[in-house]
Amino acid sequence: MRRACPSLQSTGRSGSSRCSGTMAGPASTDLGRALCVITGASRGFGRAIARDMSRLVKPGSALVLTARSAEDLRSLQVELAESEAGRAGLLLRCVAADLSRQDGLESIVRAAKEAFCEDMDHVVLVNNAASLGDVSRLASSFSDLTEVDSYLSLNVGSALCLTAAVLQAFPRRAGRRRCVVNVTSLCALQPFSSWVLYCTGKAAREMTFRVLAEEEPDLRVLNYSPGPLDTAMQAQARSTTADPGVRESFLDMFAGGRLLSCEASCAKLMTVLLEDRYTSGAHVDVYEL
Ligand SMILES: NC(=O)c1ccc[n+]([C@@H]2O[C@H](COP(=O)([O-])OP(=O)(O)OC[C@H]3O[C@@H](n4cnc5c(N)ncnc54)[C@H](OP(=O)(O)O)[C@@H]3O)[C@@H](O)[C@H]2O)c1
Repeated sequence: MRRACPSLQSTGRSGSSRCSGTMAGPASTDLGRALCVITGASRGFGRAIARDMSRLVKPGSALVLTARSAEDLRSLQVELAESEAGRAGLLLRCVAADLSRQDGLESIVRAAKEAFCEDMDHVVLVNNAASLGDVSRLASSFSDLTEVDSYLSLNVGSALCLTAAVLQAFPRRAGRRRCVVNVTSLCALQPFSSWVLYCTGKAAREMTFRVLAEEEPDLRVLNYSPGPLDTAMQAQARSTTADPGVRESFLDMFAGGRLLSCEASCAKLMTVLLEDRYTSGAHVDVYEL
């Protein structure tokens, strides 16, 4: 029997996640005068988020774009600087940093503090960066603690530590909205054969943000599942997944044109953020929207 592909199948949890957040009212048309920190901005979904957020913030805002590839960040910076928002003065800071290193996390927080202006009314952190891990093997082959720790350190630990450091740098204050987005996956909720690292990482990371939502009632926390995206990560999944059924469903989705574009999924994420009606900590799947 052919198995459902990670991130394709909807969670069936729709309804509960979208309607009990802040006061229902007309959706905002912008994100305010905001500081937006976006990880994994060099390509794929993170790059689309940076483009959309640059259009949705008010003048006087700043974007901190981070990933390891300085060159890709630089080309995004040039593109956005030439856009309408860039020409209107949007501050764009690139931080080439490895999220799996403490000094990488520190350099991102330092840049965020430098980019911040006291009259900004919104701080948004998007934890988008992630890695697929080795999907060419089954769980029973992962006996090397260093390998597993290293995966979880990047995909779970760094998201918690960066989020904590950003919240410390920008504490709760009257007139300041704070929002944290975790880019999650169906794999946080459902197991897929040969995807033990990714599924474990996404499940643990999502729980991190659910706990945060419990602890910080003033903070808006969104776990957004973007669906199967036409990105480098998908290409890696298609070519290296060990489980033949899971790999075949990826190949089928690609061949059948059923991958989502980063732009389409990102537009839905932006609508969720602007409407601001989700339950803080909820898992919101693109297919529910
Ligand atoms: N693609 C899908 O079908 C799909 C489905 C569901 C969920 N998601 C999630 O969506 C998010 C974006 O995925 P994507 O498909 O856009 O992936 P992608 O194309 O592989 O991009 C991953 C991003 O993370 C950055 N990154 C990776 N390792 C890093 C490290 N050690 N330090 C700093 N940055 C690092 C990469 O930049 P550098 O290499 O330059 O560092 C890149 O910008 C991920 O959280 C993914 O799990 C994707």
